Amino acid sequence: MRKIKVGLVGSGFAANIHMTAYNENREFFEIVAVTAKHVENAKKFAERYGIPVVCESMDELISHPEVDVVDVCVPTNVHDEVILKAAENGKDIICEKPLTGYFGEDLVDVDEIGKIEKKLMFEKLKSKVEKIETALENGGVKFMYAENLVYSPAVTKAKKLLKASGAFIMELRAEESHSGSHASYSRRWRTSGGGSLLRMGSHPIGVVLHMKHYEGRIFHGKPIRAKSVLAEIGYLTRTDKFKKEKKHYMVDTWKDVEDWSCVLITFEDDTKAVVFSNDISLGGVKNLVQMNTSKGMIYCNITPNNTVLAYAPESSVWGEEYIAEKIETKSGWTFPFPDEEWLRGYHQEMRDFALALLEEKPPESGFQLAKETVLVIYAAYYSSESGKRINLNF
Ligand SMILES: NC(=O)c1ccc[n+]([C@@H]2O[C@H](COP(=O)([O-])OP(=O)(O)OC[C@H]3O[C@@H](n4cnc5c(N)ncnc54)[C@H](O)[C@@H]3O)[C@@H](O)[C@H]2O)c1
Repeated sequence: MRKIKVGLVGSGFAANIHMTAYNENREFFEIVAVTAKHVENAKKFAERYGIPVVCESMDELISHPEVDVVDVCVPTNVHDEVILKAAENGKDIICEKPLTGYFGEDLVDVDEIGKIEKKLMFEKLKSKVEKIETALENGGVKFMYAENLVYSPAVTKAKKLLKASGAFIMELRAEESHSGSHASYSRRWRTSGGGSLLRMGSHPIGVVLHMKHYEGRIFHGKPIRAKSVLAEIGYLTRTDKFKKEKKHYMVDTWKDVEDWSCVLITFEDDTKAVVFSNDISLGGVKNLVQMNTSKGMIYCNITPNNTVLAYAPESSVWGEEYIAEKIETKSGWTFPFPDEEWLRGYHQEMRDFALALLEEKPPESGFQLAKETVLVIYAAYYSSESGKRINLNF
């Protein structure tokens, strides 16, 4: 069987997760090249995974004749540059979440991009997304959106239950939250494109949009899209009460980005979704989706879930063994992840992308989901600023 030849742009956190998923799908993929901002890092990465070619730049990697698919594992503010170049070179694209954002690229003198008008950001974001869509169409390339939660076993089972029941989803409630990213780029809008809502909220927003798309596709032959957005964002670690506390257990060094968000989405069929995403949630990462359907209800406790429960009187008992992302302590009762990559859908995602590339079928998570997710998020920023419901036209 012909193998898919992948070139990785980026050798950080997401690139490592993708390598684990490629290794689980070895029969489909061959990783032929890698590049990173600092070539030494790309070299170390290539040695660790046995990747034959290290490129000095993204241009060299994208135009490399061996590369069929470009895997975008760079920070979000570099996504569009890689996508546009890959499309121009006729290369198919796997892209990490979120698709892109607005980073104040055209406002070089402004320090705190997070303080500029969100209506303006929404308009600029729309133009950027249109430009990407046109480039993909002109390049005739496939785009696979690496929204792993779409492929998590819990969401896959929820889809089977929905299909079997013939029900429609009346309301979704979803969340991704934890106690704050440790990545320095996440502190400023200029490098992150937003706070908790963009960085983490793109996952639960992606899932609720996907579920309504799926419902529409299986029962009516076309996706049910988001119609409008009403939202509120907050800066809870900047409140006086919080600042007065002597010890902080959560990240408190945000510059011009929010640490709390709540988004209410209304769909074309007047059903609803409520999505929370915040950086003020202690006790480990939460990835939760609840679906109230016309004939039943479904809870997807992706993380934490109680597949494994462990108790230790003090943190040191479990030594170096990994328990779960972002827990503050390993002592007391914990919910250790037995197979995090599988639970979060990374392996299944790569398999779907392989089949999309080899069998000419659309991926479950493709460009329309990437586009709708980021437009909902920036509409939410605009709504929060204006206090108004923002209508979307897909
Ligand atoms: N799906 C998930 O669960 C998940 C988890 C983490 C990150 N992400 C996403 O993955 C993306 C990358 O995040 P990360 O945490 O891996 O970041 P990271 O900082 O760990 O790694 C980024 C990599 O990109 C490289 N890079 C940066 N600028 C570059 C350039 N101009 N040319 C070539 N390489 C360049 C860096 O050298 C580094 O290797 C982000 O969009 C993030 O939202 C997704």
